Amino acid sequence: MNHSLKTFCRTILQGICLSHKRNHLILKGVVIPMLLVFTTLCYASDQKVESLKQLIEMYDPTDCRECHEEIYDQWQNSHHARSITGIFMERYLKKGPFSVKNPRHATKKNFPCFKCHLPQLQKATDAVAAEIAEVILNNDKATMKKLNISCMVCHQDKSVVHGLPESNVMFGPKAKKEYPEKDHMKVKKSSFMTQSAMCGQCHGLGPIFEFEYPIQCATLYGSYLHAYIPSGGVQTCQGCHMKKADHTCPPNFNDRKDVSERLRQALPLEVDTLSYWFQPFENIFVSTIVVKTNITSKAGHRIPDG
Ligand code: HEC
Ligand code: HEC
Ligand code: HEC
Ligand code: HEC
Ligand code: HEC
Repeated sequence: MNHSLKTFCRTILQGICLSHKRNHLILKGVVIPMLLVFTTLCYASDQKVESLKQLIEMYDPTDCRECHEEIYDQWQNSHHARSITGIFMERYLKKGPFSVKNPRHATKKNFPCFKCHLPQLQKATDAVAAEIAEVILNNDKATMKKLNISCMVCHQDKSVVHGLPESNVMFGPKAKKEYPEKDHMKVKKSSFMTQSAMCGQCHGLGPIFEFEYPIQCATLYGSYLHAYIPSGGVQTCQGCHMKKADHTCPPNFNDRKDVSERLRQALPLEVDTLSYWFQPFENIFVSTIVVKTNITSKAGHRIPDG
């Protein structure tokens, strides 16, 4: 889309330069204002966020808490709210194909992991990537926590399929009309929000070959599509992981008790036994047991992932 707009702008600018040669008067009265409008248009279409502060502000979910308190608190306890603090990015910046001698030399290419762990980086310049590299290498945890998969990542950037989501519109599963339009961004319904592919955008199909050094992290959506669905599975990711729109998206691996309980329910274990005495000689009895176990996975994909 940006590309075609640029081509369009270039054609217009070339046309304007030609008329410049032909008629000086038109240049002053009509062409210069037009030129300004089109330059702004071209610039705006390509404009990237230039500072880390600006990127954080654009995706800051703090204001949402005022009205969506429960969802906000659930989200804050979710892995989505700490999507880069646990991925050891400093190791990759120090050693290997993504390493940099000086954090200021980092560009978006040093962060292929952010395709899913911080997709909003796509909207920023390389200067922002360099700022993030400094934050990570200085172990500035407070700033790292502000870099996450916030409400707007899911409800705007990842919320529609086919085409770019409109800016200044938030997409929801229902988008009833009762939201306070004055204080709220416009809300539209997107049926994509309740489909598994919405989660699949980051939960991975397999190795990603689009990068100079292919990487692989989450592959669970591949397993859902190729194992669960063909064997007759009928639930969505949201159905199993976001019941009643629970934004905690369990499992939360920091809550070990809850994780154990969920795994107990997800992996029912059936045990049948047959015990008997084996008597090889007249006075020798060896107690013997045959144990038959059957573990059934109720998950919608292989577990664990990876
Ligand atoms: C295809 C999208 C995608 C890419 C690219 C990606 N990840 Fe991930 N990563 C995920 C998802 C989704 C999870 C969580 C779910 C899971 O593990 O199934 C995850 C989990 C992790 C975890 C475990 C985090 C925890 O708190 O338990 C680590 C560590 C990690 N990723 C590191 C990386 C690194 C380092 C890179 C880049 C080399 C990377 N990831 C690239 C999607 C991705
Ligand atoms: C990982 C992606 C993701 C993130 C992050 C996220 N949401 Fe959602 N949200 C969803 C999905 C998916 C649904 C639809 C769930 C369904 O109906 O099955 C949803 C539903 C909702 C709903 C409708 C609730 C209902 O009762 O139907 C609201 C309101 C909402 N989200 C607000 C927020 C706010 C506020 C934040 C940030 C604090 C947030 N979301 C963060 C994915 C996300
Ligand atoms: C002034 C109060 C208020 C604030 C602030 C607010 N919301 Fe809402 N929002 C509402 C109300 C009320 C609704 C409609 C009822 C509902 O779905 O909960 C709504 C609806 C939504 C929906 C549509 C849910 C659906 O059913 O499809 C989404 C998504 C959403 N808000 C996200 C956000 C995000 C993200 C923020 C922060 C940027 C935010 N809201 C800030 C009050 C607010
Ligand atoms: C923008 C990318 C993105 C989207 C969209 C997304 N996730 Fe995630 N999700 C991640 C990443 C990255 C992690 C791992 C964060 C970490 O701990 O480092 C994660 C973690 C999780 C976890 C916690 C388990 C774990 O291994 O960390 C669950 C469960 C989960 N996501 C479910 C969902 C569901 C359900 C949806 C769709 C409603 C969804 N996610 C949408 C990127 C995404
Ligand atoms: C039929 C229900 C079901 C469906 C459908 C389902 N899951 Fe799961 N998922 C589970 C269960 C059960 C577990 C393991 C126990 C738990 O909930 O903690 C699990 C675990 C996970 C984990 C943690 C993986 C790990 O390494 O431990 C992630 C991430 C996840 N699911 C994401 C998704 C995504 C994304 C989708 C959609 C593509 C999805 N799930 C579809 C039931 C489901």
